[in-house]
Formats: sequence, structure tokens, C-alpha cells
Amino acid sequence: MYSKTAQYYDLIYSFKDYAIEAEQIKDLITQEHPTASSILDVACGTAEHAKYLSDNFQIDGIDLEPEFVRIAQGKVSNGRFQEADMSDFELGLQYDVVQCLFSSIGYLKKAGQVVDALICFKKHLNPGGLILVEPWFSPEQWNVGSPHVLTIDEPGLKICRMNSSGLEGNISKMHFHYLIGTPNGVEHITEDHELALYTLEEMLSFFEQAGLTVQYDPVGLFDRGLYIAKKMQLNKE
Ligand SMILES: C[S@@+](CC[C@H](N)C(=O)[O-])C[C@H]1O[C@@H](n2cnc3c(N)ncnc32)[C@H](O)[C@@H]1O
Repeated sequence: MYSKTAQYYDLIYSFKDYAIEAEQIKDLITQEHPTASSILDVACGTAEHAKYLSDNFQIDGIDLEPEFVRIAQGKVSNGRFQEADMSDFELGLQYDVVQCLFSSIGYLKKAGQVVDALICFKKHLNPGGLILVEPWFSPEQWNVGSPHVLTIDEPGLKICRMNSSGLEGNISKMHFHYLIGTPNGVEHITEDHELALYTLEEMLSFFEQAGLTVQYDPVGLFDRGLYIAKKMQLNKE
């Protein structure tokens, strides 16, 4: 998905303020789980959140994209970053917080995969641990056919990324065109991203099926909402 553009990810998403988001995450953890000291960042990308959280927490990460894992490890040397699929992983480690941010969960296009992922997150939680999931859009929030453009204008590097948004069933589709200008010339590449649009009710039911109690904050870190979950307390831990 990101293999052709991984090296440009941080520039492309420089409109996001990861430092402020990390502060919000710290505040939330302080409120919900004040003794937390470790975080697993699932679908960590280039470790932009981890970079800011690593001063306060032991933070490790997994991602499907090998180049992101390499970039993440380079940024956060005391964290352990590895390639893994969020719907099927077993690290043999437990954390106080498992987070999955910036809509990465939407890349799981089948409901069963989301439940499997949440079960994996739960297996990697210490007692009393917290799960944070920032969702992709819900079906009613998705505008089919609207064109989008993003530009980067740096000395020696120009990027123009354009796409229009499509829909097939509950799958949102983005076919990105990139024009990338470097001193070596201008290259055109394309990239396809497909993410499932789950309703609030579906998401809540996925958490329940995974044995988690969940609260939903409609604003969250980046106006996309945030699910805050804990293991269901069947017996006292
Ligand atoms: C929008 S990026 C978010 C990255 C990072 N969390 C951030 O906030 O910048 C989505 C990420 O999900 C990862 N991803 C997609 N499907 C995945 C899967 N099945 N398992 C693990 N990572 C996955 C991608 O490689 C990418 O890093």
C-alpha cells in the first residue's frame, strides 16, 4: 500500500500535529490508567506518535509495511519495531496500552478481521490495560466522487498527490496519483488504498465480540473519534 511512497510519508502528513496528539494521548492515559508505563503502537507507520511518547513510555510498534518498520526503528532506538499483521500477531509481550491510530483499523476490510485484531490487542494487554482505536470514517461521513489534492513544495522536492473518492459496498476506495519532482526528474506513480466504512454500531459490536468494554469519544485526537476500551471484568483481576 505505502511501499512506493514510504519515504515521503512524514512530509505528506506534515499537516498533522503528532506532538499535540501525543500530548492528548498522555493526558488520556494519565486519566484512564495513571500507572501505565508501556505502549504497543499497532500500525505504527513511521513512529511519529511513538517518537513523542518514547520519553514517557517504553513504546514498541508493529506495521505491515517493512519500510515503515525500518523508519520507525531508526527514529525510536529504544523501541522494538517489527513487521506484523494487526489481525494476526503474537509478540509474547504485554503492554499497559495498545493503540491503533490514524484510521489504520479501516484497512481491515472484513468485520471478522477487526474482531480478530481486537482480540490480538486484548491478548497483548497487561491487567487493567487500555486499548485506543482511532477509526476511519463511517458510511454517512464518506463523500463519493469528491476530488482531493495535496501538495508539498520543498527545495529539491515537489509532490502533487491527487485522488477522487470511490465506494464499492462498504469499502471506500482511493486511487492516488502522485507526481514527484526531484533533481532527477518528475515521476508519476499510483497507489490504491481501500478501507472499510464501519458504522458506530458495528464498531461497538466488534469491541463487544472481542470481550472488551468500550467508550466512544466522537472528537478524539484528530476529529475522527476515538474508541477507548478495556477488558471486560468477568472476575476480579
Ligand atoms: C494512515 S497510516 C497510519 C500510521 C500511523 N499510525 C500514523 O498515525 O501515522 C495506516 C498504517 O496502517 C498500516 N497497516 C495497514 N494494514 C495493516 C495491517 N493489516 N497490519 C498492520 N499494519 C497495517 C499501514 O502500513 C500504515 O502504516
